[in-house]
Amino acid sequence: MIKSLIHSMIVCPDMEKNYPRITHGAGPYIFDEEGKRYLDGSSGSSSVSNLGHGLSEIGEVISEQIGKIAILPTHVFSSAIVEEYLSELVDFAPKGFTRAWTVMSGSEAVENAIKLALQYHQLMGSQRYKIISRWSTYHGNSIFTLDVGGMKFRRQRFIQWMNNFPHIAPAYLYRKPAELSEEEYVQQLADEFESCITREGADTIAAFIAEPVVAAALGAVPPPQGYFEKISSICKKYGILFIVDEVLTGFGRTGKNFGIENFNVVPDIIATGKGISAGYYPLSAIIASEKVMEPFIKKNEAFMGGHTFTCNPVAAAVGKHVLKLIKRDSIVENSRVMGELLKKKLETLYKYDIVGDVRGLGLFCGVEFVMDKVTKAPFPASYNISKLIGEKVIKRGVVLYPGKGSVDGVLGDHVMIVPPLTIKEEQVDEIVNALEESIIEVQNEIAKSAKL
Ligand SMILES: Cc1ncc(COP(=O)(O)O)c(C=O)c1O
Repeated sequence: MIKSLIHSMIVCPDMEKNYPRITHGAGPYIFDEEGKRYLDGSSGSSSVSNLGHGLSEIGEVISEQIGKIAILPTHVFSSAIVEEYLSELVDFAPKGFTRAWTVMSGSEAVENAIKLALQYHQLMGSQRYKIISRWSTYHGNSIFTLDVGGMKFRRQRFIQWMNNFPHIAPAYLYRKPAELSEEEYVQQLADEFESCITREGADTIAAFIAEPVVAAALGAVPPPQGYFEKISSICKKYGILFIVDEVLTGFGRTGKNFGIENFNVVPDIIATGKGISAGYYPLSAIIASEKVMEPFIKKNEAFMGGHTFTCNPVAAAVGKHVLKLIKRDSIVENSRVMGELLKKKLETLYKYDIVGDVRGLGLFCGVEFVMDKVTKAPFPASYNISKLIGEKVIKRGVVLYPGKGSVDGVLGDHVMIVPPLTIKEEQVDEIVNALEESIIEVQNEIAKSAKL
């Protein structure tokens, strides 16, 4: 029990439990008050501390910038640090992205990306306002972004406040209809997208939004082959903007600068966050393509968005330094190489009965647990398998990110393995060994309780 905390889903959720207190971190490790060391295979909560913990040089960057100026009246002044950072940020984005704008959280980035898309259409003389999204996806925790997202158990409590934007099925290869080939499955998903557009009225749809690799809602699920190519061409056909939610997948997590660069498509707007500052300062951003910015520039009309900490100089100084470290230390390449190794080693876990699927891209991997490997039947929710696995790995000094609900919003267990992008081979082994031992322990417990 923590006396003054409003316990919440991702902050010490169990009111009765005494959580170990973390005192500090160094590289991929964090340490508690008792001196116990944990490998942070969750990178904060989650996939944030891409450069590892304890980089005091970023403290110096913050202190230096605060010594100069911490915040300024941005309605009448600009600052060199923000201008330099935005220019480096668009250079880091795929070709054709020319302008950026920062806020503080992923939810704000997604919501503002949508607002930018809506204003784009208004400037183009259209009243398109609907956003098509997918079930089993997460785009943030404000009521608007929960609505656009598709995590049923997170939306449920706030459903009265939701407009019910159209949602289509997730692209979830492991759970595709068995009778369809991968290609047929992709075609089915594309057809569903197209019929959703025609049913709603193409001239009402402003944008389609998707995570390039689905994070917590499914557990690190990349799309099937050719999926985004088909979806993106349908967007183009109907004049719909394609927004990618790169809050988790940006800045090297998938082995490319941005997750969408793994596929052969170019989106219109990127919403990003988390690894953008490696967790050293609250920072997120929207990055827009030249096409999206064109009507704003032509009409000399400003984006109708803004928060107190928009384009904050301290955040810009941190973001700029983090970008420098990402490039200097070849972080994106390390994510690709170590990610391939991690996935290969995780695939050895297929020998265990409860391991149904191993997936991922770069250092963004997931393992899905099933009760029956052949039918892919999930465990009853009461078993709490992913939570159990999460607890067992912590006992072994490794933190992972467990999740549930991938099958239907309630059933389905997975863990995400999202360590800092700086990790080395021996740390990959440390993670996989802890996970393997935990799987064996859970399997034994299940077998034992079945005999009782
Ligand atoms: C894909 C995705 N989008 C949006 C968000 C929301 O970001 P934040 O928690 O910073 O508001 C998250 C957070 O986990 C996310 O994973």
